[in-house]
Amino acid sequence: MNFQKAELVISAPDKKSWPDSDLPEIVLAGRSNVGKSSFINAMCNRKKLAYVGNSPGKTRLLNFFNLDDKYMFVDVPGYGYAKISKAQLIKFGQMMEDYFSERSQKKGLVLIVDARHKPTDDDITMIEFARYYEIPVCVVATKMDKLKSSQRHKQLKLIRQTLELSEDEKLFPFSSETKQGIDEVWEYLIPIFES
Ligand code: GTP
Ligand code: MG
Repeated sequence: MNFQKAELVISAPDKKSWPDSDLPEIVLAGRSNVGKSSFINAMCNRKKLAYVGNSPGKTRLLNFFNLDDKYMFVDVPGYGYAKISKAQLIKFGQMMEDYFSERSQKKGLVLIVDARHKPTDDDITMIEFARYYEIPVCVVATKMDKLKSSQRHKQLKLIRQTLELSEDEKLFPFSSETKQGIDEVWEYLIPIFES
């Protein structure tokens, strides 16, 4: 989708820095390096809105992106990065707990997974968080372009089963490279933003 304005409002280390806004928010979470920032860029048809990097695990902040003063995407730092310290891990858990328990404009969670891999326990924890707080969840299986067409169906099935997705929890095949899935994900997200 094209937005007149798409900008990073703030990278917030803690709840004191969350933007004072009443825009509806959708949270994007996933393992480090899975393609969250690329997903944001692809969805907003921008090349460099969100930082796409080669140094996974660097950002430990919630990044709030304002889209036309209408919607907000909240990019969660990637988890599951091996070199993270225990203290950082605790801080991350606290940050997510604060967000889910206190941010009333949260509307949904998009869990981003790598289509090539089985979701991890961290992915399950993240989806459980959203289910616990009763916000709608969908899963985006990105990097589909890296799978052979013969493997696609099998991988999607594995993801669905591992995360125990219910009927209402949609799974979208996606690729920031080929742009597969953008329209389908927007079609799903708009009613959630506007709910
Ligand atoms: P962190 O912020 O470090 O957690 O990473 P991230 O989840 O934001 O991942 P990012 O978007 O920075 O992408 C990581 C790497 O994967 C980059 O080299 C991207 O170019 C690549 N990548 C992301 N999405 C895709 C995709 O759909 N297809 C392919 N082939 N590469 C992708
Ligand atoms: Mg990122």
